[in-house]
Amino acid sequence: MNFESVDYLSGNGYIPWRKMQSMQKKQVYIETYGCQMNVADTEVVLSIMSDTGFGITKNPGNADVIFVNTCSVRDNAEQRVRQRISTLKNYKRENPGVLIGVLGCMAERLRTELIDKSNIVDMVVGPDEYRRLPELVESAFNGQRGIAVKLSRVENYDDIMPLRTEGITAWISVMRGCDKFCTFCVVPFTRGRERSRRLRNIVEEVERLSDIGFKEITLLGQNVNSYHDGEFDFADLIRRVSAVDRTVRIRFMTPHPQDMSEKLIRAIAENENACKSIHLPIQSGSNRILQLMNRTYTVEEYFSLVEKIRSAIPGATLSTDIIAGFPTETKDDHKQTLDVIQEIGYDGAFTFIYSPREHTKAWEMSDDVPDEVKAERLNEIIELQQNISLGINKRLVGSTVEILVERESAKSNDEWMGRTDTNKVAVFPKDGSRIGDLVTITVDRCNSATLFGAVTKDLKTINNYRIAVNS
Ligand code: SAH
Ligand code: SF4
Ligand code: F3S
Repeated sequence: MNFESVDYLSGNGYIPWRKMQSMQKKQVYIETYGCQMNVADTEVVLSIMSDTGFGITKNPGNADVIFVNTCSVRDNAEQRVRQRISTLKNYKRENPGVLIGVLGCMAERLRTELIDKSNIVDMVVGPDEYRRLPELVESAFNGQRGIAVKLSRVENYDDIMPLRTEGITAWISVMRGCDKFCTFCVVPFTRGRERSRRLRNIVEEVERLSDIGFKEITLLGQNVNSYHDGEFDFADLIRRVSAVDRTVRIRFMTPHPQDMSEKLIRAIAENENACKSIHLPIQSGSNRILQLMNRTYTVEEYFSLVEKIRSAIPGATLSTDIIAGFPTETKDDHKQTLDVIQEIGYDGAFTFIYSPREHTKAWEMSDDVPDEVKAERLNEIIELQQNISLGINKRLVGSTVEILVERESAKSNDEWMGRTDTNKVAVFPKDGSRIGDLVTITVDRCNSATLFGAVTKDLKTINNYRIAVNS
C-alpha cells in the first residue's frame, strides 16, 4: 500500500476530540496484517490521525509513531507480527522518541501481555477504540503507555470517511463483528458483536467514491450478508449501492452460507454491476465436522444453495475457504471434503491448516490430527483445487472477457493486471489502455491463477478521473 500522496482524500465529517497542534507535522506509519476488514480499519485510523494533524509516511524510518494493525486468526499470523514487532525495536533504538502501537485483533486478544512482556510497545488499541488514538498517542508522548481494548456494541465508525489511498478499488466496511461463533474462530472475541452501519450513509459514501473516480467497491463485513439497518437487509443494500453508478462494480466479502437468502441471490442477478463471483466458505465437506464447527448448515443444504446461485446467476464463479485437520477429522472426513471440492468445482479456494485458538470452543477439543497429517491433507486439497482452477481457466482460452484495468502487473511495466466481473485475474499488454478502463481481451493462455491475453477492443473509456491513480 502506498500512503505517500494521500492528502487529497483527507477524512471529513470527523471532529477529533482535541486538535493536537503540538503534534503537527509528526509522521505516522502503519503496517497492516490480516483480512480486508483490517485494511479498511487502517484507512479509518489514517483518517483519524490525519485529522489530528499527523502526516503519513510509508517509511518507518521517518515515523514518529509506528502502528502495526494485527491479526489473530491463526497462530502463524500472530507469530509473524511478533517477529515484526521485535524488529521494529531497531527504529526505537535509533530514535528513542518513536512510539510503537499495536492495533487490531492481537491487541484485543492479548491486551496487557503485549505491554507487560516488552519495552517496545507503547500502546495497545483494539478495533473498537480507534477514536481514542489521538488521546493515547498524546499520553504516550508524555511517557504514559496506554491500553484501550473495550469492545463496543455500537461503534461502527459510520461518521468517519476513511482515508483512501491509490487505486480505483475501494473498501467499505458495512458491518463489524460476528455473532456466529464458529467453534474454531477467534473473530467473535476480537471483533465483538455484530453491528451494521446506516444504509443511507453507505449509499452516500458510494456516491462520493463514484464521483471521485473509484471503479470498484467491495462491501466488507466478517459476516457481511447478515447486514441489517431497520427494515433493510443486505439484499436491499446491494440493490441500493448498485444503482448509484452502473459503471462502478460492486463486490462483497465475506458472506456466510446461512444468510445467503434467495432475495440476495436475486439482487445480485438483477443488478448488472453486482459482480457475479461469490466467496462462500464451506470449511469442510463432512457434516459431522461442520456440526462440530457450528457452521449451521449441512453439505446438502450448501449444495442446494450453490444450485440456486448457479441457476439464478449463470456463469457465476464460486470460491471458498477450507480448514484441514479440525479436531477429530478422519481420513474419511477429509475424503468427503475432497469430494465436495471436486463436485462443486470451485474457481478458487483459500485453504488453511487448523490452528487452535484460546477461548474458542474448539480449543477445548483435543487437537488430535498430527501436524504432518494436517499438512498432507492441506497439500491434497491445494493440488486438487489447482487442477480444477486450471481446467476452468483453460475453458476460457479463445474466448473474450471484459477486464477492469487495475494496476501494472507485478512482472512487467508493459503489462496491466485487471479482473473480470467474475474475479478472475488477467494480465495483458497495455496497448494504449489506462487504469480504470474497461477493456475486452482475448484469452490466449492461462495457468490456474491467471488468464493471459491481448486487448481486442476498447469497449468504453470510463476513467474520466486520474485521481487516485499512480501511473
Ligand atoms: N468471516 C469469514 C472469514 C473469517 S476468517 C467467514 O466466516 O468466512 C477467514 C478464514 O480463516 C475462515 O473462513 C476459515 O477458513 C479460516 N480460519 C478461521 N479460524 C481458523 C483457525 N482457527 N484455524 C484455521 N483456519 C481458520
Ligand atoms: Fe469466524 Fe465463523 Fe464469524 Fe466467520 S462466521 S468470522 S469463521 S465465527
Ligand atoms: Fe485476522 Fe482479525 Fe481479520 S483475526 S482475519 S484481522 S478480523
